[in-house]
Amino acid sequence: MSILVTGGAGFIGANFIVHWLRAAEEPVVNLDKLTYAGNLASLQAVNGDSRYHFYRADICDRDTVLDVLQRHDVRGIVHLAAETHVDRSIHGPEAFVRSNVSGTLSLLQAARTHWESMSAVRRSAFRLINVSTDEVYGSLRPGDPAFSEASTYRPNSPYSASKAGADHLARAFFHTYGLPVITTNCSNNYGPRQFPEKFIPVMILNGLRGDRLPVYGDGANVRDWLYVEDHCEALRQVLAHGEPGQTYNIGGGGERANTDVAESVCRLLDDMLPESPHRPHEQLIEFVSDRPGHDRRYAIDATKVHDHIGWHPRESFESGLKKTVAWYLANESWVRNVTSGEYRDWVNLNYRARAGRT
Ligand code: NAD
Ligand code: TYD
Repeated sequence: MSILVTGGAGFIGANFIVHWLRAAEEPVVNLDKLTYAGNLASLQAVNGDSRYHFYRADICDRDTVLDVLQRHDVRGIVHLAAETHVDRSIHGPEAFVRSNVSGTLSLLQAARTHWESMSAVRRSAFRLINVSTDEVYGSLRPGDPAFSEASTYRPNSPYSASKAGADHLARAFFHTYGLPVITTNCSNNYGPRQFPEKFIPVMILNGLRGDRLPVYGDGANVRDWLYVEDHCEALRQVLAHGEPGQTYNIGGGGERANTDVAESVCRLLDDMLPESPHRPHEQLIEFVSDRPGHDRRYAIDATKVHDHIGWHPRESFESGLKKTVAWYLANESWVRNVTSGEYRDWVNLNYRARAGRT
């Protein structure tokens, strides 16, 4: 038996596969389309491990997904494949509906066919973890209680709306067909191997090069940061102990305003690069025009996953951020590999039109 990870060449997927093969004996199959965000160099640590298998495929291709599920006798799926960047969803929402909504539907259908072909014992042990986001709950005001599993879905961006669509389909497949689906709603992840379109790697890599550090709007937007390895362990534990049909919120209790995050990255760069001509890196911070519809605050109440699953994060924001900055400084060739070609077009599209505000 094996587990299948969709989107295993992305940020969380690659970290999950490396983490899984360190923690468990069981083989893992990675099915990934290799969009701009998928990068096999993130999986160098497991190349050559006979328990690791890779298929380049689209989750929308139901026949191929079913074939992989059957060939590897898959008993659990961790579904991570998605289009994930809010700014890209603002420039072009179609790809988000295709991969996140239609792709999840196609995966659920393949999983259902596979699951229905199993013996009763195997069926009761099968699990599909639909990995979602806290962004489906919308935006909090300062002082509002954190999102719980009972919070209403109020997605505000094309990205979060497409993830909400996927979550509703996952819920319906449990309710209608009994497919043992569990949805997890996680807060913002950071850590090694994150594509440098997301906030923390943008801050680190721009700081390293002495480029401006673009902070949207007034920089007071708050995210609840979770170190990626803690998320991977949470997913492993939910796969083992989660109850079908349930949802679990996963968060690190690491609420920080964007300016605080940018300043923390700058202090770490100052410490780790004492010879840098760009010190103090804080001088590079520039407030730029805001993201349309920018959610003000996300925060997760993780009581249920603590109490029912027994998972707790190990890293504080400070310890995780230090590891993250050190990883980017030590992995220059990974960075070079992902920041060539298409990446430059994205930087032009997203940042050129953002006027500096200070
Ligand atoms: P990512 O963008 O780094 O990686 C996504 C991966 O999915 C890539 O390897 C890409 O090639 C693959 N992919 C995209 N469309 C595909 C398709 N149609 N078929 C097959 N593969 C496809 O994303 P990530 O940050 O690793 O996020 C993984 C999952 O976790 C997503 O579902 C995301 O919504 C969710 N999530 C992410 C965060 C976060 O902070 N990164 C937080 C909460 C939830
Ligand atoms: P991001 O990493 O895109 O994640 P999400 O939008 O899914 O939360 O952004 C995190 C926060 O950082 C968000 O409030 C937007 C902000 N941000 C900037 O200020 N500058 C940037 O260049 C980017 C990419 C994000």
